[in-house]
Amino acid sequence: MFRTHTCGELRLSHAGTTVTLSGWVQRSRDLGGMTFVDLRDRYGITQLAFSSESRPEPCSVARTLGREYVVQATGMVRERESKNSKLPTGEIEIIVETLTILNAAEVPPFTIEEQTDGGDDLRMRYRYLDLRRSNVRSNLELRHRMAIETRNYLDKMGFLEVETPVLIKSTPEGARDFVVPSRMNPGEFYALPQSPQTFKQLLMVAGFDRYYQIVKCFRDEDLRADRQPEFTQIDCEMSFVERDDVLSTFEGLTAHLFNTVKGLNLASLPRMSYADAMRLYGSDKPDTRFGMTFVELDGLVKGKGFKVFDDAALVAGICAKGCSEYTRKQTDELTDFVKRPQIGANGLVYVKYGSDGSLKSSVDKFYSAEELRGWAEAMGAEPGDLLLILAGDAARTRKALSELRLEMGERLGLRPKDQYSCLWVVDFPLLEWNEESGRWFAMHHPFTSPLPEDLHLLDSDPGAVRANAYDIVINGVEVGGGSIRIFDKGLQKRMFSLLGFSEEEAQSQFGFLLNAFEFGAPPHGGIAFGFDRLCSLFGGSESIRDFIAFPKNNSGRDVMIDAPSPIQSAQLDELGIAISEKTS
Ligand code: AMO
Repeated sequence: MFRTHTCGELRLSHAGTTVTLSGWVQRSRDLGGMTFVDLRDRYGITQLAFSSESRPEPCSVARTLGREYVVQATGMVRERESKNSKLPTGEIEIIVETLTILNAAEVPPFTIEEQTDGGDDLRMRYRYLDLRRSNVRSNLELRHRMAIETRNYLDKMGFLEVETPVLIKSTPEGARDFVVPSRMNPGEFYALPQSPQTFKQLLMVAGFDRYYQIVKCFRDEDLRADRQPEFTQIDCEMSFVERDDVLSTFEGLTAHLFNTVKGLNLASLPRMSYADAMRLYGSDKPDTRFGMTFVELDGLVKGKGFKVFDDAALVAGICAKGCSEYTRKQTDELTDFVKRPQIGANGLVYVKYGSDGSLKSSVDKFYSAEELRGWAEAMGAEPGDLLLILAGDAARTRKALSELRLEMGERLGLRPKDQYSCLWVVDFPLLEWNEESGRWFAMHHPFTSPLPEDLHLLDSDPGAVRANAYDIVINGVEVGGGSIRIFDKGLQKRMFSLLGFSEEEAQSQFGFLLNAFEFGAPPHGGIAFGFDRLCSLFGGSESIRDFIAFPKNNSGRDVMIDAPSPIQSAQLDELGIAISEKTS
């Protein structure tokens, strides 16, 4: 028997018991007469004590132990002389009688501790060592709990977990596909699913009524802290539902997770239209932990000879509470921030509303104090506040002001990680116009149903049609999205044609779905949560990588197994793939 207990289990009540533990050496201290070793496993750390006097043999072995050696120790549990209140096992130690080295270990390339000295790349290369660190492990424990509680809730609500295939045909979620060549069908390729979208809809046609799956999805897109090429969705679909049914079911899931995993009670989720989200926050995923909403100032600021405002399609600002004392250096910093290429504003106008009631701006040449007072009033500002104003093309100005708002929220400590603000964003536009390709794209995906009241605009003004689609947003993160689907073959065909698919293209790519719709498709709708994002929010981290056991880096590489990598030419021949030499 390798162990009678784990390294996290023993307490004062076990004193006097003989136990056997197995685990990794966290650290050892040789104090002459006594040697102490911290033994670690998934469950915790227990102190092993070796006495050179009473048990010289295990003590001399203990002195040879290196970090991360795997050992087995048997001995008696006893009360510690100097207790460690930070450890659950801190009241006891094992006075070791026999010690066996099960495996020696190389010196690890970084310290296996919460605060490690290992850089990102090194830790990814040795991810199995990184996973030994208690904070990384606890992220995965949280993920496990979230998965279990998701299954508990959905099972209780009558959802069936069904696995859908991984080698499929392209699903149009808007990213590039990862493709897999088929040996048995030379020159042909499978696509890895960007989501199980079409399959879950087919399951509704099949009468499964309520489906879910915690499922891997694959998207070949540019990576960021909240994006991985392979990620996990809680993917769900329901039949005979309208939007409110889906929203209330998944509000229920969100509340269940907050309650069971975080011990928090979630209030009912507010709903905000896409139009309001863009107008007030400049983003379809607003961080509503704080206000600082946009105020449009066009009517007040134009026609006074300040060209930047006069020529702008939109002039809008935010009010930063209590920031009127910002120094020149601080306002310059904010100007540099908005002028960064990723943010894209041309400049920043500010008004300092001093606590003595004075008004001082960066555009004093053009505007009187009275005019500035009018702006301050429109923006709900009080003495002591700072107004930050951007102008230009409407979409770019909203985007830049949204970034500035988040930056100010961060600076003012208005975005605490342990405070949650959730909402539904609804009524997205159905279509987006793409200048480059000169055609419409589905904003969600082509199976999303238009809002019934906008259906009549589909031919005359497609850009004005709203979708019966919704996103769940938590703390400014798009955690999930879904829609009520088109279930009528005629409307689905019209949609494909609006999106520029010829009848043949639609038939060859989605004929299976259109055909299925001939056999009695029920009204249906669903949603998919980004599971990694949900876990990282619950864990208070910005990066989803911390919640994935073996993530890819920002270039989409797994540096531990060194993938992707070239394959043998014999394998390429077998697949009928010729790789052309790159010429420079
Ligand atoms: P959507 O494309 O909005 O919808 O994806 C659903 C959720 O998945 C998460 N997500 C990602 N997470 C990590 N890395 C990525 N690369 C990534 N891409 C998306 C987001 C997102 O909200 N089939 C539809 C759902 C439906 O209509 O039911 C779909 O996939 O949190």
